[in-house]
Amino acid sequence: MAVDVIVLAAGKGTRMKSALPKVLHKLAGKPLLEHVLDTAEALADAPVSVVIGHGSELVMATIVRDQISWILQQQQLGTGHAVQQALPCIRDSARVIVLYGDVPLIKRQTLLDLLALVDVRTMALLTVTLDNPTGYGRIVRDQDGAVQAIVEEKDATAEQKTIAEVNTGVMAFPPEFLRQWLPQLQNNNAQSEYYLTDLVGMARSQGFRVAALEATSAHETEGVNSRSQLHTLERQFQLNLAQALQDEGVTIADTARFDCRGQLTAGQDCFIDVNTVFEGSVSLGNNVSIGPNCLISDAVIGDAVTIKANTIIEGPVTIESHAEVGPFARLRPGTQLRTHSRVGNFVETKKSVIGPGSKVNHLSYIGDTTVGENANIGAGTITCNYDGVNKFNTSIGNGAFIGSNSSLVAPVSIGDGATVGAGSTITGDVGDNQLAIARGRQRNIENWQRPAKVEKE
Ligand code: UD1
Ligand code: MG
Repeated sequence: MAVDVIVLAAGKGTRMKSALPKVLHKLAGKPLLEHVLDTAEALADAPVSVVIGHGSELVMATIVRDQISWILQQQQLGTGHAVQQALPCIRDSARVIVLYGDVPLIKRQTLLDLLALVDVRTMALLTVTLDNPTGYGRIVRDQDGAVQAIVEEKDATAEQKTIAEVNTGVMAFPPEFLRQWLPQLQNNNAQSEYYLTDLVGMARSQGFRVAALEATSAHETEGVNSRSQLHTLERQFQLNLAQALQDEGVTIADTARFDCRGQLTAGQDCFIDVNTVFEGSVSLGNNVSIGPNCLISDAVIGDAVTIKANTIIEGPVTIESHAEVGPFARLRPGTQLRTHSRVGNFVETKKSVIGPGSKVNHLSYIGDTTVGENANIGAGTITCNYDGVNKFNTSIGNGAFIGSNSSLVAPVSIGDGATVGAGSTITGDVGDNQLAIARGRQRNIENWQRPAKVEKE
């Protein structure tokens, strides 16, 4: 049976104390709403309806994807009212599942399990039992244990407040149910709101059954209302990722200091030290070692690569097997390090290929450059690739040796086996196996008298 998804995201999120609508706050680098939509889209075979209100312009401008019907709820008159706004987008033949845009860790399998409970005469809701149920709608069951009603905190009696099983907000309905019963909701309650939860009592009185599925993990159903809750879910999300990597054979120095804000895949026997942040899409081969305090985004990293402390990788970057990078290296977009190459401390590379076995060990800038095999680029080498307007290329041949503190003024080509004397400013091509020296010749002056200081009186 078809499934339509409605995501409620019109609330203000007052407790975030933010100019940003709550659902745009990020978890693992991605807006809360995107997390929910990723899960929802994997479930639905039609566009997901998203009810927005506070900050709707910004929400629509930020979340750019195809399969969404945006629905504006001008005034936030309650969860029942919010769902009602989405009814025109709901198909007659579809079961409907309602999600919250601020509950980011909800799992697809849980939603499938919930939907499986729905049939023409049965609606279903996801509940969770909490140590402290304060603030939530309580699940009232009859003497047979069947769900009878949901009572909101503000409407609950003292006795009802002792119930620890609460409504998570996730509910699923049979086709046509919402269209028939939503218009009958009343707002004669403590908050003068149209409560979606009142549908439960209504369903029972109309002879429908209300199935309840109890969530196994509380984090999965937790909403974000404050920065502190956002932090709790962020750490839970990161812990889940770290543990999944451990299961794949990765050693993580400290799962509490592991952060991935994108996709990370890893082969076996990798080691990830503390405080490294992964962004975008990063893949690690086998036996990759990553030192502490690195930032790695959009990189393909081969087997047995070593990345030392405090290295910054801003991809797209490719690093082939057995290469070594850092400490304190910065690889910018378009860097490709071939097998067994080495980029050392305080070296910046951009749009450059460092060939197999070649080394740039210290204090260099290599941009728009192709380096062949087994070349050695001395400390302080700078490729001068920019004249203020245009960028120019440098090519350095196989086995070339660039002496320390040289400037290579592009466009320029250094041949295979060529040598550049230390301190040279190279403005013309150097042929294969030639030595180029382009620096002032040294003069030594005998008995040089330094200026003497005149003592003041
Ligand atoms: C709601 C449930 C409560 C449940 C709790 C779980 C109702 C009446 N109560 O209470 O049983 O235990 O969630 O967290 O449903 N929203 C709109 N438009 C509105 C009102 C709300 O889009 O007019 C959205 C909010 O942005 C939010 C969600 O619906 O994502 C829930 O609203 P919220 O105000 O947090 O409901 P609660 O009072 O917490
Ligand atoms: Mg709430």
